[in-house]
Amino acid sequence: MAGYVELFRVGKSYPSPKGPAVIVHDFSLNIDQGEFVALIGHSGCGKSTVLSMIAGLSECTTGAIVVANREIDGPGPDRGVVFQSPCLLPWLNALENVLLGVDRVYPHISRTQRRELAAYHLQLVGLGDSLERRANEMSQGMQQRVGIARAFAISPKMLLLDEPFGMLDSLTRMELQEVLADLLARDRKTSLMVTHDVDEALLMADRIVMMTSGPAATIGEIVDVPFARPRNRTAVLNHPDYYPLRERLIEFLENQAHQPAEPGAVVRFDSAESATSTHQPQTAAVARRA
Ligand SMILES: Nc1ncnc2c1ncn2[C@@H]1O[C@H](COP(=O)(O)OP(=O)(O)OP(=O)(O)O)[C@@H](O)[C@H]1O
Ligand SMILES: [Mg+2]
Repeated sequence: MAGYVELFRVGKSYPSPKGPAVIVHDFSLNIDQGEFVALIGHSGCGKSTVLSMIAGLSECTTGAIVVANREIDGPGPDRGVVFQSPCLLPWLNALENVLLGVDRVYPHISRTQRRELAAYHLQLVGLGDSLERRANEMSQGMQQRVGIARAFAISPKMLLLDEPFGMLDSLTRMELQEVLADLLARDRKTSLMVTHDVDEALLMADRIVMMTSGPAATIGEIVDVPFARPRNRTAVLNHPDYYPLRERLIEFLENQAHQPAEPGAVVRFDSAESATSTHQPQTAAVARRA
């Protein structure tokens, strides 16, 4: 069955003096509408590369990506992106930062309606009292709340989150995980989140995709997260499957850490066939979802 988001044998390579350096290879994944997928893997394996290809910020070297029946060919308002650093314009206030996206995506509605839409989303992330506060006067956590409000306010079909809480202290991180979970409970967006935090992945995701270490990184294993929604942290921690799943993720990452390949090393595949056979577990994992 086709997914709402489909990555079909996606690959990315960069030219290098020794030939194409293959970063991501033969990455195939279907994501259902409303599903939340977490992507984990070692630093430098290619997680952000995958996410930025879906965002349309970087072109696939091979393969194709379809979002809601449309093959993507560049960035678009159907995909809302939240990065580790929210990239706000520092001299604009919270409302103006959210309006930057809203004005572009909803030019046909009135200025008042656009302001209401932006203010509504800021209120949802807990910044209803800080609409006029300038970005350079905000804490990291507040800025990231604005980043999340900005992504939701354009009503994207899909959310792409690249370690959105990676720079926050653990308390703020937990607060923002709850803000995001509450928003998703109201409006179940199809989401892909890159994270280094296995506990965050287990708390947020319906499925966790584990990437092999590069070069030519691909999907190593996919696990289903069976915890009922709405989730709360304590119930998740007390679930009998929590520690076995956590162990499985950590074991995968530890095994990948012992792989001999050097990150950034040049890998060439002479044919698609030889490449596929190298990555049989990924093919099987995708087939399981088909
Ligand atoms: N423009 C580029 N040219 C050449 N190599 C690049 C380029 N951009 C990224 N890379 C390489 O691609 C690999 C994957 O990078 P990417 O940022 O996707 O990793 P990541 O899994 O997101 O890492 P992290 O967990 O540290 O964020 C890295 O080895 C990086 O050096
Ligand atoms: Mg990254």
